[in-house]
Amino acid sequence: MKIDPWSSTTYQDYSRLRDEFGIEEFTDDLWKDFPKPHKLLRRGVIIGHRGFQQIHDAIVNKKPWAILTGLMPSGKMHLGHKMVIDEVIYYQSLGADINIAVADIEAYATRGYTLDETMKYALDEYLPNYIAMGLKPEKCRIYFQSKQQDVKDLAYILGKKINWSQMVATYGFTGSTNMAHIFSPLIQTGDILHVQLKKYGGNRPTLVPVGVDQDPHIRLSRDVSQSFRLYNVTQTKDKKIGVFVKVDENVGKLLDTAEEILKKLNFDKLIRITDYKAIYINGAKEEDIQIIDNALAKIETKLGGYGFFQPSATFHRFMTGLTGEKMSSSKPESAIFLTDTPKEAKKKIMSSKTGGAVTLEEQKKNGGKPDECVVYELFLYHLIEDDNELLQIYSDCKNGKKMCGECKKYASQLMEKLLLDINERRNKAKSQIQKYLE
Ligand code: TRP
Ligand code: SF4
Repeated sequence: MKIDPWSSTTYQDYSRLRDEFGIEEFTDDLWKDFPKPHKLLRRGVIIGHRGFQQIHDAIVNKKPWAILTGLMPSGKMHLGHKMVIDEVIYYQSLGADINIAVADIEAYATRGYTLDETMKYALDEYLPNYIAMGLKPEKCRIYFQSKQQDVKDLAYILGKKINWSQMVATYGFTGSTNMAHIFSPLIQTGDILHVQLKKYGGNRPTLVPVGVDQDPHIRLSRDVSQSFRLYNVTQTKDKKIGVFVKVDENVGKLLDTAEEILKKLNFDKLIRITDYKAIYINGAKEEDIQIIDNALAKIETKLGGYGFFQPSATFHRFMTGLTGEKMSSSKPESAIFLTDTPKEAKKKIMSSKTGGAVTLEEQKKNGGKPDECVVYELFLYHLIEDDNELLQIYSDCKNGKKMCGECKKYASQLMEKLLLDINERRNKAKSQIQKYLE
């Protein structure tokens, strides 16, 4: 199995993603001490992560950290696109610097849109919706890939340590894949890592909240961030923790600097072996690795390196479309768009695929299947804040006390409220966009 970020597969088999790709489970201990954990975190909609512990620690210890995510504007914004912005807005409330890439280069390279078309979708649809949903302009920047020279430069520079075999293995590119497409993952890697350049806030933990289909880009970015490091901190086979210099120039100076840093961190039993380009640290424990590595990363920029912190990611599930397949802009009946009228939305909800039984009698007797119901998914992801209310619907459905007709009506009512609210605020949002653009 390969994850293809440009296909329309939904990757429902989440445990397989963990086993085969090493995505880790997003367990409660990673978020339960956050202030007012967001419903998408609480309810298992975030199904996995890479390196989230760093983000957790930054949040809990009130250290600086950044969010970088991107959108590929193609058509209208629907509820599936809304989820990642819900997450972003929540993290903004926890103090993250927000960076959002409009992936116009990617849309051009992989979907065949022109840069002008993407710009229009972004300015008319996506950005006004983000603002209407509550994204704040403070500590928030939105940029277009095609207009961001630092991102494009970094993409090119990072390309030096990514080879063709790796691209083929990761993305299945072939001899007939066009060059713009081949380069677009590098641009995304540039998006993800440029926020750690000094001009954009410097080296710090960065979270990339995305759908699971984006994991190949995450792996690429995490790998290349480390290929550019000057130091590597690891535990050797015989359980010793050591700092290793990864380059061949200035080894002496790099070892000197590492020694200074280690002493500042109160590690004083150091064994330096210049021939191995290594410093072994007696008394260091496994949990010290991250602390040492972060301290060295921060100094690397003064020594001619980039000092990237390895970027972290969370992966959310996809929303099922109202028709039972993937929610997709190209199938309007499968999606509720944020610009739909309440009437349009109601029509889609009323004809959606539920987890109800074939007849009412049967449903009263055996109950419904909320786990296989798109209406329940609407409640879970978007419409109901109160966990107790949600639980009540879940058990009433399972016990055959709730019938799909009334349930759909209730969902339509809540959806009406949500859409009218966003609509009202979107009208005012258009004049605000400039405050967000870089
Ligand atoms: N590839 C993403 C998508 O298809 C969009 C994107 C571009 C992105 N740059 C990014 C996502 C950086 C996360 C981080 O939707
Ligand atoms: Fe879905 Fe509600 Fe029907 Fe249960 S009763 S299957 S939750 S629509």
